[in-house]
Amino acid sequence: MLDTDLDTDISKVIEFRMSSLPPNQLPHVQRRMLVTSALPYANGQIHIGHLVEYIQTDIWVRFQRLRGHEIHYVCADDTHGTPIMLRAEQEGISPQELITTVWQEHKRDFDAFHVSFDNYYTTDSPENQSLASAIYLKLRDAGLIEKRTIQQAYDPVKEMFLPDRFIKGNCPKCDAADQYGDSCEKCGATYAPTDLKNPYSVLSGATPIRKATEHYFFKLSDHRCETFLRAWTQVKTPLQAEARNKMKEWVGEVGESKLSDWDISRDAPYFGFEIPDAPGKYFYVWLDAPIGYYASFLNYCQQKGLNFEEWVKPDSTTEQYHFIGKDILYFHTLFWPATLHFSGYRTPTNVFAHGFLTVDGEKMSKSRGTLISAHSVITTGFNPEWLRYYFATKLNASMEDLDLNLQDFVARVNSDLIGKYVNIASRSAGFLIKQFAGQVADAAMSHPLLNQIRAASEPITMLYETREFAKALRLVMELADQVNAFVDEQKPWELAKDPARQAELQTVCSITLEAFRALSLYLKPVLPQLAIGVEQFLALPPQQWQDITVPLSSKNPIRPYQHLMGRVEASQIEALIAANQ
Ligand code: 2FM
Ligand code: ZN
Repeated sequence: MLDTDLDTDISKVIEFRMSSLPPNQLPHVQRRMLVTSALPYANGQIHIGHLVEYIQTDIWVRFQRLRGHEIHYVCADDTHGTPIMLRAEQEGISPQELITTVWQEHKRDFDAFHVSFDNYYTTDSPENQSLASAIYLKLRDAGLIEKRTIQQAYDPVKEMFLPDRFIKGNCPKCDAADQYGDSCEKCGATYAPTDLKNPYSVLSGATPIRKATEHYFFKLSDHRCETFLRAWTQVKTPLQAEARNKMKEWVGEVGESKLSDWDISRDAPYFGFEIPDAPGKYFYVWLDAPIGYYASFLNYCQQKGLNFEEWVKPDSTTEQYHFIGKDILYFHTLFWPATLHFSGYRTPTNVFAHGFLTVDGEKMSKSRGTLISAHSVITTGFNPEWLRYYFATKLNASMEDLDLNLQDFVARVNSDLIGKYVNIASRSAGFLIKQFAGQVADAAMSHPLLNQIRAASEPITMLYETREFAKALRLVMELADQVNAFVDEQKPWELAKDPARQAELQTVCSITLEAFRALSLYLKPVLPQLAIGVEQFLALPPQQWQDITVPLSSKNPIRPYQHLMGRVEASQIEALIAANQ
């Protein structure tokens, strides 16, 4: 959308909303929500690509909390599978040791970016094992599990079956060496691992052999699954348009069975849970990973005395949302709802998929130093809220990719956050403190500019609710522009020189600071740490969303202004890139 379209869009919304009910008179229904972000694998660092999702979810969750809803945000490390098992082996430690260390690193990074999980757990937990086993047995008893013998690539030296990504060889089309089993990096051809010429195991170098093995399948092709999934994806769930279309393609039309059965087992050696009625066979990591959402929530319910059943039973009146990347849509809109439905659980209220992050228009890359780890952002001295803000200015409800343009990042943060927003406070606080003992003029609190800012609460609420964060922030920054224009017009620095205009000075500064309070509240889901600083400075209790209508008061003098946020220096970007090369 063009910027100008967006402007008209937003002003139309404000115009319309201003003529309707003030926000404090809106009917307020208390909602109960369980929210998750995708579980990161326990074999790597959190990078800025991951952060897009955790920041997106966290903003939404914080917004809902501020609204007074009951919301529980859970996540966990995704700990099982072959890559994690092999990495531990390489490092000469047990998988448990590896996942414990990685859990601590992940938790450190999430905390640094103010991602406010109510519970951050692990899929390698007793809760997950018992839920996964019980769910599997329910599916089996429903006649939806089938045992089948399949042929699989096997490494005779390493004595294990090989996932496709552990087999390389020559491209069947262009003969390029060392290509993976699914596609050629040289000529772009796609093929099956069995098509590779001179295939070899990445683990031992041995030529893989074909070997028969028994696997367990979830019969997604069963007509019950097909009927359920068609209804769930096309009628019951308000999926994003792009997701709904994908589902149409994947599920197919009535009578056109497009779903294939899903292989949910892996052979030993495998780091995971053994299948209850199949010794030596393990649940494929993608079977127990989403169940890990529930396991984390169960663990949390036990700590907090919440009734888990009430949240997960089929007729639950609570809401359940999963934030994910578009690459794992298939797992969340086909496998996961079917797993839940046929094992006697409720299904998700919705699944929200986002696009991928590019840096300066390109895929993140190690050699360019743009595969930026979350930890390096912190250690090179960035304020994590800069990135939260920047991502928020790019996020919307679609699955479009978003770009972190490093120059634009510097300009945007400095111009919006420092130049427009923080500046409002620093321009007016001094006068109020020095000349009026920090007291605002109560009569100024109904100034038309303030009423206009308060009236924006409704469209801003709607935009946060619908995950249109970019538009919400555009609106907030437009309001900040108006406040700055007001200050420029009123020139408090000149009023301050004239003893006869003291009352005017107090009025102008009071309006400005009340505007700052309101804008800070609108930004609070995005900038939670800054909001704490603002609340201290304005001597306010933690602000809730409905406090938009409760103005500053002379009874509650503000405190001396302390620097709230610094500027980004271009040199910090260079340091960040260097740290990741
Ligand atoms: O794609 C991934 O990174 C997976 N670890 C996500 C799992 S999300 C959930 F289903 F567990
Ligand atoms: Zn090729």
